[in-house]
Amino acid sequence: MVPTLTLAHGTRIPQVGFGTYKIDPADAEGAVLAALEAGYRHIDTAAMYGNEAEVGAALAASGLARDEVFVTSKLDNPYHEPDAARAAFERSMADLRLDVLDLYLIHWPMAATTDYVATWRVLVELWESGRVREIGVSNFQPDHLRAVIEATGVVPAVNQVEINPYLTQEPLRSLHRELGIVTQAWSPLARGRVLNDPAVLRIAEEVGRAPAQVVLRWHLQRGDVVFPKSTHPERIAENLAVFDFELDAAAMADLTGLNRDERSGSHPDSVELGNR
Ligand SMILES: NC(=O)c1ccc[n+]([C@@H]2O[C@H](COP(=O)([O-])OP(=O)(O)OC[C@H]3O[C@@H](n4cnc5c(N)ncnc54)[C@H](OP(=O)(O)O)[C@@H]3O)[C@@H](O)[C@H]2O)c1
Repeated sequence: MVPTLTLAHGTRIPQVGFGTYKIDPADAEGAVLAALEAGYRHIDTAAMYGNEAEVGAALAASGLARDEVFVTSKLDNPYHEPDAARAAFERSMADLRLDVLDLYLIHWPMAATTDYVATWRVLVELWESGRVREIGVSNFQPDHLRAVIEATGVVPAVNQVEINPYLTQEPLRSLHRELGIVTQAWSPLARGRVLNDPAVLRIAEEVGRAPAQVVLRWHLQRGDVVFPKSTHPERIAENLAVFDFELDAAAMADLTGLNRDERSGSHPDSVELGNR
């Protein structure tokens, strides 16, 4: 049984989900169905990934009741202007074949070129209308978080940012705790790059688990939400089988000590229109 965390407005989110970035649309329906069959009940997608329609098809084909699966999607960068954002949300909902979304995020702040506070007001409006159970942000830095909270009084339920043992993001995670924001860790495996680290391999050997399981367990014991991506059924299953062992304090500290402030993906300041 996957543990859940409670978000700002009372919705429960499974702490492990399935990531869908860079899953080719031709493979996406099969991959999401494989994840749902393996027991995942939380799918992380985005308009930018170009596979929402396939995610929607997999949800429909799974036969699972709507309230059994937690679905997140995100507003794509070109559509921050309020009317464009409202229309983009409706396109996502049509593709996903959903009436109500569990979590909708602003994908990137785009702070140099857009009024992300105005965009946040649109998400607040969607939440007030009941189309979205929880609203949040992604790749927001401290100033961006403070600006949307100050302007609207509505705290983002989550901030989805890159976190893994090479980029532990302690100051940002600490601010999230202070503000009551749940931390979601994207690229939790650093897109596979941490899996050959000698410390990860040593701890995996000690606990008799796969390197990916050790890294995911580290995230979970820190209290963050993760959604590793894989298109291999055995890895999809492996990444969910992380609730029957624990890392001790020394292993946790060793993994946290791998931090190099090194990104696998983009820095929020570098992602603007035409550059993502
Ligand atoms: N908000 C944002 O801006 C943002 C940005 C990036 C990602 N995300 C979200 O976060 C999710 C996860 O991040 P990510 O996809 O970038 O990277 P990730 O989950 O850290 O790593 C995925 C890579 O690791 C491999 N892998 C997965 N499980 C493995 C295992 N058990 N053993 C060995 N290799 C394994 C996968 O290969 P195979 O597929 O070949 O198995 C893939 O190459 C995304 O899918 C997306 O939903 C959000």
